[in-house]
Amino acid sequence: MIAEDFILKNYNSNIERGAVKWESPSNIALVKYWGKKKNQIPENPSISFTLSNCKTITKLTYTKKESKNFSFEVYFEGEKNEAFKPKIQTFFERIEEYVPFLRDYHFKIETSNTFPHSSGIASSASGMSALALCLMSVERSLSVVEVADKVFKQKASFLARLGSGSACRSIEGELVVWGQNESTESSDLYGIKFDGEVHPNFKDYQDTILLVDKGEKQVSSTVGHKLMFGHPFAEQRFAQAHDNLAKLKTVLASGDLQTFVKIVESEALTLHAMMMTSMPYFILMKPNTLEIINKIWKYRAENDSNVCFTLDAGANVHVLYPENEKESVLKFIKNELAEFCQNGHFITDFIGKGAQLHN
Ligand code: PMV
Repeated sequence: MIAEDFILKNYNSNIERGAVKWESPSNIALVKYWGKKKNQIPENPSISFTLSNCKTITKLTYTKKESKNFSFEVYFEGEKNEAFKPKIQTFFERIEEYVPFLRDYHFKIETSNTFPHSSGIASSASGMSALALCLMSVERSLSVVEVADKVFKQKASFLARLGSGSACRSIEGELVVWGQNESTESSDLYGIKFDGEVHPNFKDYQDTILLVDKGEKQVSSTVGHKLMFGHPFAEQRFAQAHDNLAKLKTVLASGDLQTFVKIVESEALTLHAMMMTSMPYFILMKPNTLEIINKIWKYRAENDSNVCFTLDAGANVHVLYPENEKESVLKFIKNELAEFCQNGHFITDFIGKGAQLHN
């Protein structure tokens, strides 16, 4: 596949109106995407767990119009929202070549998240993937040829990527790979369901998100990715991501939880190390992030546990653990980690199966 294959050539523009609704989850990377080329092409491959509870629900209503400009309105949690418009405008500009009907319709975008807005959880992955899926449903209704499910998902992921890179990993479950590499069939253009073997140890894997800092992100991901340009360790880091993906593939098949823990934690700390060693440099972890990491390490050693952590580009901690440790780890989180969260707030989640259409 090349990008041009995703250009919609013939469509029926006589359809006057319609509405579609999708819910799409967030995802958490195990091997991190950090650094991109032009058009949101990743510098290295990444792999993520798709989540279940943290999701965006978006309804898209489209009405035929005469003028040829972009026309859309956005409602967030029931209220008209102007703040999201510039991001959506940029998204439309980036994708219009592939979905030319964008200028034929007025769009009403009604969106909401299942997680609190100011929780420090990035909503760009779930939000952009939900909108991309809605646009693909519009494409399907206008298309003069049948759009096969495989193509539908690939193109939804392709469009989502142009909205926010990691959003391309939110279409399917339970593990998704994005970025060309030797270990999987994945492409730089869209994410695919991980095609390797997955041991039962990873079934229903748990992710409890500890909300250490609910504030605005200190470094936007746009700025963050740019920090990898001319970064002294960039090339080694990109090579390491390929290596970690290959290792993780073996681990996912064998069920080797100890090695899983090592790869995942090392990836999280490397992501932050990249930010600490870039110019300008940033420390996104907070004192409580470190308190939590140390508590997790202590708990793991004392309880012969496989609990581990990963981080996004922020201070919140994702606590990952196998399903069979659910009861004990949740107790540990409530008793020993919740005190390091803002207002004691955390969100329990687990591996999910991907986005869903609402009928
Ligand atoms: O999708 P973006 O541009 O917001 O970048 C996300 C980058 C990380 O969350 C830090 C890592 C990842 O692979 O999700």
